[in-house]
Amino acid sequence: MKQGLFISLEGPDGCGKSTQITFMEQYLKQEGYEVVVTREPGGTDISEQIRKVILDKDNMAMGDTTELLLYAAARAQLVSEFIKPAVDAGKVVICDRFVDSSAVYQGIARGLGIDMVYAVNSYALQGMMPKRTFLLDLPAQEGIKRKRGQHELDRMELQKAEFHEKVAQGYRTLAAMHKERIVIIDAMKPADEIAAIIREELQDLL
Ligand code: TYD
Repeated sequence: MKQGLFISLEGPDGCGKSTQITFMEQYLKQEGYEVVVTREPGGTDISEQIRKVILDKDNMAMGDTTELLLYAAARAQLVSEFIKPAVDAGKVVICDRFVDSSAVYQGIARGLGIDMVYAVNSYALQGMMPKRTFLLDLPAQEGIKRKRGQHELDRMELQKAEFHEKVAQGYRTLAAMHKERIVIIDAMKPADEIAAIIREELQDLL
C-alpha cells in the first residue's frame, strides 16, 4: 500500500492558497496519487459549524482564549474524522491551513504565545503534523486588498491593519523556526511560477 502524506498550505488572508491547491491536486492526481483536499477551520460538518461561529462578524466580542479553543476544537474533529483516516489509508491530504495558523494568528498576532498554542493543540493533533508546509508570503495589506475585492470581510479579516501586519511577520518568524518543514514562497509571483516551485518540492517529497 502507498504511504500516506500530509501537506499544508499557509499564509496571510488573500495569499492565493486556493489557486495553488487546485494546481497541486491536479498535478498529484495526474501522477497517480489518491488526493483529498480539506480546509481549516472546517472540513467536516461539525468543524464547518464551529467555523461559522468563529468567523461570524456579529461575534466581535469573542475572547482570544475562546477563539484559540474553537480553532483547536474544529481541528480535533477534522483530524480524527478526516485527516488521520485518509493518511492511514495511504492518501495524500492537502490542508488549507493547519496548526501553524493558530501559532501565528493566536500565538503571535493575538499574543497568546506559540508554546501555549502548541500545548493546547497537542490534544487535537493526535500526532498528525504536515510533512511539508508551503507558506505563501505576502505583504499584509496586499492580502486584505485582494479579499476586499472578492467578498464581504469576515470577523478575522476585519481585524486592524496592525493585526494583519503581525500575521505576515509572524509567518516569517515561524518559517525561520521550522526551516526543515516550511517552504517560503513569494506570493507576489505569478500563480504559474508559484505552482512550478511547489511541483518541484513535491517531486522531491514523493
Ligand atoms: P479562511 O476563509 O479560511 O481564510 P483564507 O481564505 O484567508 O484562508 O478563514 C480562516 C480565517 O481564520 C483566516 O483569517 C485565518 C484564521 N485562522 C486563525 O486565526 N487560526 C487558525 O488556527 C486557523 C486555521 C485560521
